[in-house]
Amino acid sequence: MKGIAFLSLPPWFCGALEENFAREKRMMWKWLGALLLFPVQMVYLVVKAAVCLLLPPKLRDLSRDNVLVTGGGRGIGRHLAREFARRGARKIILWGRTEKCLKETTEEIRMMGTECHYFICDVGNREEVYRQAKAVGDITILVNNAAVVHGKSLMDSDDDALLKSQHINTLGQFWTTKAFLPRMLELQNGHIVCLNSVLALSAIPGAIDYCTSKASSFAFMESLTLGLLDCPGVNATTVLPFHTSTEMFQGMRIRFPSLFPPLKPETVARRTVEAVQMNQAFLLLPWTMHVLVILKSILPQAALEEIHKFSGSYTCMNTFKGRT
Ligand SMILES: NC(=O)c1ccc[n+]([C@@H]2O[C@H](COP(=O)([O-])OP(=O)(O)OC[C@H]3O[C@@H](n4cnc5c(N)ncnc54)[C@H](OP(=O)(O)O)[C@@H]3O)[C@@H](O)[C@H]2O)c1
Repeated sequence: MKGIAFLSLPPWFCGALEENFAREKRMMWKWLGALLLFPVQMVYLVVKAAVCLLLPPKLRDLSRDNVLVTGGGRGIGRHLAREFARRGARKIILWGRTEKCLKETTEEIRMMGTECHYFICDVGNREEVYRQAKAVGDITILVNNAAVVHGKSLMDSDDDALLKSQHINTLGQFWTTKAFLPRMLELQNGHIVCLNSVLALSAIPGAIDYCTSKASSFAFMESLTLGLLDCPGVNATTVLPFHTSTEMFQGMRIRFPSLFPPLKPETVARRTVEAVQMNQAFLLLPWTMHVLVILKSILPQAALEEIHKFSGSYTCMNTFKGRT
């Protein structure tokens, strides 16, 4: 009966069925092709990256770039301003809270022959960021560098201090990026840089506000970097340095300082600007931190706890005297 019913279907319906069947078949071949191509693509990209490591890199020419560095008055931010100026950036804008440092850095950059201006801007204050962004004009490289650390455990931290570090270290980047990214997309020319920290990937006790804010800022940058894949000319770089000798973590002690010496801020700045020029998405400093990331993903928790105790990272914040 069924066969007879099918045979008696109108010809236009049978035609539609056949067309549908052919489309499904084509889709299946397409999917199968993509599935087979995927591992080949992966091998190609890994080999390409390895070969690129051996070749002299193609560097971004900074001579038409207006660079804004948040927290540019001192520490790594000041070195970043110097490095961008040394490498020929057209204009440098510094944001920060302390006028004295901003003024000193601005004068130094001008002495190097590069146009430089500073603005007092608290990146944790959304209205202030949007207002100052209008005053600054077009920015093609935004460096989210400003951050604070309170250096206390959760129960010892007062609520306002906990909120403050999230506002500055994480949300501040939302506001600065929202302020400058639309114009970068319009110009099809822009780069968002984040000075993150290795503590985003491996937290320590005694800096719970900081580690939380950096981990969340890392997720922000990962999401942003992927989101920019379809945006020609606009890219992102996230730098994750180990302890660096600035005022930020003053007093912090690790157990084997000669084995794991702090990085110099000028090294972090140089490697950061190089990463921007080479359009590198993520940079761990020093490269040995990759070992930490691998260990973290394979060792059991008890072994990781022993590493923290042995290296002294478990108690390193007990002597912390930093400034916020
Ligand atoms: N030092 C380290 O061991 C280390 C390690 C890894 C990553 N990092 C990261 O590197 C970046 C720079 O750190 P650093 O060592 O140079 O620290 P730093 O010497 O303490 O400098 C921090 C900078 O952030 C600015 N800042 C703080 N709050 C701000 C706010 N609300 N609005 C605007 N600017 C603000 C400060 O300027 P004002 O004082 O004028 O506000 C200062 O210029 C940070 O993102 C930090 O997390 C540091």
